[in-house]
Amino acid sequence: MKTQVCIIGGGPSGLLLSQLLHLQGIDTIVLEKHSREYVLGRIRAGVLEHGFAALMREAQCGERMDREGQIHHGFHIARNGRLHRMDLHKHSGGNSVIVYGQTEVTRDLYEARERMQGAVLHDIEDVQLHDLASGSPSVTFRRRDEVVRIECRFVIGADGFHGVSRKSIPRTVLREYEKVYPFGWLGVLSRTPPVSEELIYVQHERGFALCSLRSPVLSRYYVQVPLTDSVEDWSDDAFWGELKHRLPAEVAARLVTGPAIEKSIAPLRSFVAEPMRYGNLFLAGDAAHIVPPTGARGLNSAASDIQYLYHAMVAHFKRGDDSGLDGYSAKALARVWKAQRFSWWMTTMLHTFPQQADYDQRLQQTELDYLLSSEAAQRSLAENYVGLPY
Ligand code: APR
Ligand code: PHB
Repeated sequence: MKTQVCIIGGGPSGLLLSQLLHLQGIDTIVLEKHSREYVLGRIRAGVLEHGFAALMREAQCGERMDREGQIHHGFHIARNGRLHRMDLHKHSGGNSVIVYGQTEVTRDLYEARERMQGAVLHDIEDVQLHDLASGSPSVTFRRRDEVVRIECRFVIGADGFHGVSRKSIPRTVLREYEKVYPFGWLGVLSRTPPVSEELIYVQHERGFALCSLRSPVLSRYYVQVPLTDSVEDWSDDAFWGELKHRLPAEVAARLVTGPAIEKSIAPLRSFVAEPMRYGNLFLAGDAAHIVPPTGARGLNSAASDIQYLYHAMVAHFKRGDDSGLDGYSAKALARVWKAQRFSWWMTTMLHTFPQQADYDQRLQQTELDYLLSSEAAQRSLAENYVGLPY
């Protein structure tokens, strides 16, 4: 088989790039390890920056997002039993975010790829990347006992944190930066009306909590838990009890509870791999960087990689201009690190850290005091939350 761009990974990054390139007449093949049902079974954050939303529209995938997604102009921070509203719209010069589940984003991308007869191969095994430093790299994989080779001009590593692409870069070239937080988020999805129309981020001595939503009848809640906890330790009743404990009393009083239709624990991690290019392999999204979910930057920081790669590939194939490809890693990393900083800041400010020194605890309280009392600080938060420019 032959293609111009071979994309490893059929998550949102790989599918979005494939769709954008297709619309420019550039041929791609997407290789996905799992089935489509499996990929769509994963539940992830649901806050989209306006820049990501624009990219979805450009990919002709924005129709349902615009119809069913909810525009949010702000969110709340709860502390000491009180809600404080962060006005994103006012403080970011009129921007906002769209609350629309990442699973739905991925579903829309799959449907668009199908509509345009895009090549997305599922359930493939043993993906290996070859001759990446040459002008004609190739990818091999196994599918039903048959070994297949794809020859291409470029390989895109959009295969997530555990994928094979980043691992194909020689250790002497790759540098990895990592921070692992000493807690996780226990998340519950329930078919109940959300407790608040806008998200509530909760700082509480028993630990962070978050009230989010997917639709007027579907809620998503989280509580910070120790890494030693497992889902089996948390009955639905225990989860709702703990969440209520951390919420301001007036919010807890109107919380509607119900059976969890999904319950999982996610560890919190920050990670960046540099550079994001090796020869003709380009990393994008979770394959190159991970953020803790606190600032809702995960998918949004994948989106800027895709935007840069998309324009760089178009410039290469249509105009023979390689400046975008040559500058990709540095440009992508500059924005990635800003998303890392923001996620780290939100995470550090809002969580309860085990064995924290008294001094650090006071500073953490002061950081939050400052944010809640300063318009300048709220402008900075808003600028980052709605998404820094590409
Ligand atoms: N071969 C082929 N596909 C693979 C391989 C492999 N060796 N390893 C992993 N994959 C697939 C995974 O099954 C997954 O579907 O690559 C895909 C990567 O998708 P994601 O992990 O969703 O990563 P990405 O597309 O970069 O999405 C960005 O934003 O909010 C964050 O983490 C969140 O998924 C989200 C991300
Ligand atoms: C979610 O809806 O799952 C969600 C929202 C905001 C976050 C993290 C997760 O910061």
